[in-house]
Amino acid sequence: MEPIILSNAVINHKISILRNKATRPGLFRSIVKEIGMIETYEALKTFQGKQIQVETPLETCTGLTLEDEEICFVSILRAGLAMGDGAREMLPCASEGFIAMARDEATFLSHLSYAKLPTHLENKKVILLDPMLATGGSSGDAVKLLKEKGANVIAFCCIIAAPEGVKRFTQENPEVVLYIGALDRCLNEKAYILPGLGDAGDRIYGTLD
Ligand code: PRP
Ligand code: URA
Repeated sequence: MEPIILSNAVINHKISILRNKATRPGLFRSIVKEIGMIETYEALKTFQGKQIQVETPLETCTGLTLEDEEICFVSILRAGLAMGDGAREMLPCASEGFIAMARDEATFLSHLSYAKLPTHLENKKVILLDPMLATGGSSGDAVKLLKEKGANVIAFCCIIAAPEGVKRFTQENPEVVLYIGALDRCLNEKAYILPGLGDAGDRIYGTLD
């Protein structure tokens, strides 16, 4: 499936703030949260919801609800947590899972250290969240784990992606709907995205040297 690039004036404006090296962690974190909200909204657009009867102060009408729908947000630690904050604020009735992945700085391979996921993923629409898709190792391994746990309807929302990672991710996971805020030029020799925004986790949590 072709990735969906969510380029529009609002998202581009917010991504420019993230790219700016002068943006401090507090603002950086809140923009990542806002984009998390926008992207999960986009990912849920095709979702119908269940019909309910609603009593307004004047009469009864038919409405749609996501309250009892099986929606699950899964954040990849650390950086995905900030996107998850936005998703949760938009839809507090969704369940949530967490996958801790750390990328080895020499090999660029991702290592799983912790995962806590809701049960019965086979019945849920799972939206995976991580701001960066670089080599595609972390998100690819996270999707592999979700599939092993039964998930079969998966979307992945990232903020910035490199063409190399997109190619690998979509080849390995053709059925996963991939939402991208901005598709950048390439990876550098340290597998950082260019022009990118640097290390998302460090910029969110203020752990830069
Ligand atoms: C970053 C980012 C992704 C990963 C992307 O996390 O948040 O998870 O790198 O790179 P990849 O596509 O090449 O795997 P990192 O491992 O640096 O951890 P952090 O969130 O704790 O900073
Ligand atoms: N992880 C990041 O946080 N940034 C990159 O550019 C690549 C991987």
